[in-house]
Amino acid sequence: MAHLPEQYLQLFPILQTHTMLASCSQSALAEPVSRAIQDYHDSLLHRGTNWKEAIEKTESARNEFAKLIGAEPDEVAIVPSVSDALVSVASALSVFRKKHVVYTEMDFPAVSHVWQAQCDYHISVIPSIDGVMPLEQYETHISEETVLTCVPHVHYRDGYVQDIKAIAEISQRKGSLLFVDAYQSAGHIPIDVKEWGVDILAAGTRKYLLGIPGVAFLYVRKELADALKPKASAWFGRENGFDGAYAKDARRFQTGTPAFISIYAAAAALSLLNHIGVSYIRNHVKTICADACHYAAAKGLQLASAQGGVQPGMVAIRDERASETAELLKKKKVICAPRDEVIRLAPHFYNTKEDMRHAIDEIAVKMIDK
Ligand SMILES: Cc1ncc(COP(=O)(O)O)c(C=O)c1O
Repeated sequence: MAHLPEQYLQLFPILQTHTMLASCSQSALAEPVSRAIQDYHDSLLHRGTNWKEAIEKTESARNEFAKLIGAEPDEVAIVPSVSDALVSVASALSVFRKKHVVYTEMDFPAVSHVWQAQCDYHISVIPSIDGVMPLEQYETHISEETVLTCVPHVHYRDGYVQDIKAIAEISQRKGSLLFVDAYQSAGHIPIDVKEWGVDILAAGTRKYLLGIPGVAFLYVRKELADALKPKASAWFGRENGFDGAYAKDARRFQTGTPAFISIYAAAAALSLLNHIGVSYIRNHVKTICADACHYAAAKGLQLASAQGGVQPGMVAIRDERASETAELLKKKKVICAPRDEVIRLAPHFYNTKEDMRHAIDEIAVKMIDK
C-alpha cells in the first residue's frame, strides 16, 4: 500500500506533539479546517456580513458529503446532529400505517432515547450474540409490520462492522425502511448508499469526518424523501424559504439556520477526505488496526473488539478503569477515547503503526501499575 506524501501529515500540527487516536470521538484538526473556521470568524469581524458565502459553503458541504456516500446532493439534508436527524425521520413516518420499529443493542443510546420518546410506536431491540450480530437476527426481528429498522454501520464501543448491503436486502424484502447510523464509519469506511440499497443514513462531522460539532448530514433516498412530510421541518426545509411548500427533496428535513461555522469546517474537511479517498483510508486504518490487535494481545491486554470477522477500524481494549487510564495517557500526550469499560484506539489516515504500538505500550504499563 502506497504511503501518503508527508505533506498530508503536516496538515495536522498537533501530530508534532501528540499521538492522536480518538477519531471515534473527535479527530485531529487539520490546518485547512482550522483556516475555514477562521474564515467564518474573519468574515464577520472584518466584513460584517457573510450570508451569501455561508449558503455557498452549505451547498459545498452538501455536495462533498453526497460524493462521499454515492448520493445526489438533493438527497442530503443538513441537520444539527445525528440525534436530530433521527427525530426528523421519526416525525415523518405517520404516512405509513405501520407502528413497529426495530433497532439494535449495538446502536448508540441516542437511538433508543429518540424511540422511547415516540409513544405511539411498538419497539423491538435486536440483541447481539457474543459480541456479533448475525444476519439471522434481522430475519427474526424485522417483520411485515416494521416501518423502520435502525442499525449502526459500526458499533460505537468496539468497532464491529456490519454488512449493510445484506441487512438492506432483508429489510427491503420484509417491507421495512432502513436507517443507517454511519457516524462511526463515514470518513474511514467507503459507503455506497445506492449500491447497498440504503433508504436513510445519517452521520455527524466531528469523528472520522475531521470536523467539529454542530452539523450532521441526513441522506434520504429521493423517491422516499418526496413521499414523506416531516413534522420536524421549517424554513430551511421549504421550497423558497418563506414559501409554505415542502422542498422537493431531502432538504425538507431541514429546520432553521445551520451552525455555519461548523459548515465551513465540514466543507473543508470533506473536501480533504474526498481528495485522499476513503478506500485508501480504509486500507490504511485496517492494516494498522490488525497489527495493533496482535501487538496488544501479545502484551496480555484483553481485546473487546470482535475477532474473526471484518477487521474493525478501531482497537478496543478492556479496562475497568478506562476513563482513569485515558487521563493518565493524556498526561503522556496520547489522546484516546474511553467508553464504559473499554479504551478505544481509533486511528485515521494520519496515524502510523508506531502510534498504535506506542499507545498500547503506555496502556500495558498503566495496567501493570494498577
Ligand atoms: C454511532 C453514533 N451515533 C450517534 C451519536 C450521537 O450523535 P449526535 O450527538 O450528533 O446526536 C454518536 C455519538 O457519539 C455515535 O457514536
